[in-house]
Amino acid sequence: MRLDKYVSQCTGLSRKSVKQVLHQMRIAVDGEPVRNAGLGLSGEETVTLDGHLLTLPGARYLMVHKPAGLVCATEDASQRTVLDLLPGTLASGLQIVGRLDKDTTGLLLLTDDGQWNHRITSPRRTCAKVYCVTTADPIAPSAIQAFRNGIVLKNEPKPTQPAELVIEGSHQARVTLTEGRYHQVKRMFAALGNRVTALHRASVGRIQLDPELPEGHYRTLTEEEVNSV
Ligand code: URA
Repeated sequence: MRLDKYVSQCTGLSRKSVKQVLHQMRIAVDGEPVRNAGLGLSGEETVTLDGHLLTLPGARYLMVHKPAGLVCATEDASQRTVLDLLPGTLASGLQIVGRLDKDTTGLLLLTDDGQWNHRITSPRRTCAKVYCVTTADPIAPSAIQAFRNGIVLKNEPKPTQPAELVIEGSHQARVTLTEGRYHQVKRMFAALGNRVTALHRASVGRIQLDPELPEGHYRTLTEEEVNSV
């Protein structure tokens, strides 16, 4: 879509007013001020006006407190999915923003805004996700440095990006990751000879799981939460 059309749809400004704000260099695409009204957007860019993220009106942004036992898929022939927690009309067309395993609980984000989803999940961006972990065996203090250095996972050539591990009990820790590889937390502990027995996502970027939101429930994100990523 052309930049001027996108800005106009997000803000409600006329094409003429959009031209003016472009001329005033108040629009930025991926952090770079732009003036070219006809610039083509692929849908993955971040567009801001005066530093405020532009989002399409009517777009849906939700947080779900995921219980264990549901799969993160938009449909599944035999298993219940996280979208089954929402009324059908609300669930239609939603994308899952960073999947969780079936047995993982905690914060799951859903949206129909592909650009916003991309801002969180693109490997080029470094959106921190915080997980509370329980393990089968005691967590060795040496794991802190191992997480910091990066860990080579089974069948993967590249080590993980530096991650933060805070040990909170003999079998409990808080892990902060800036990437999202398949089963990453479980595989990082497995590479160190331990096993994750419970995993819960507490936050994604600056969006924290609402402590008032019971498991299995959802709520719409506030404007501040949407704009925070
Ligand atoms: N890491 C995992 O191993 N599982 C998840 O669900 C999320 C991160």
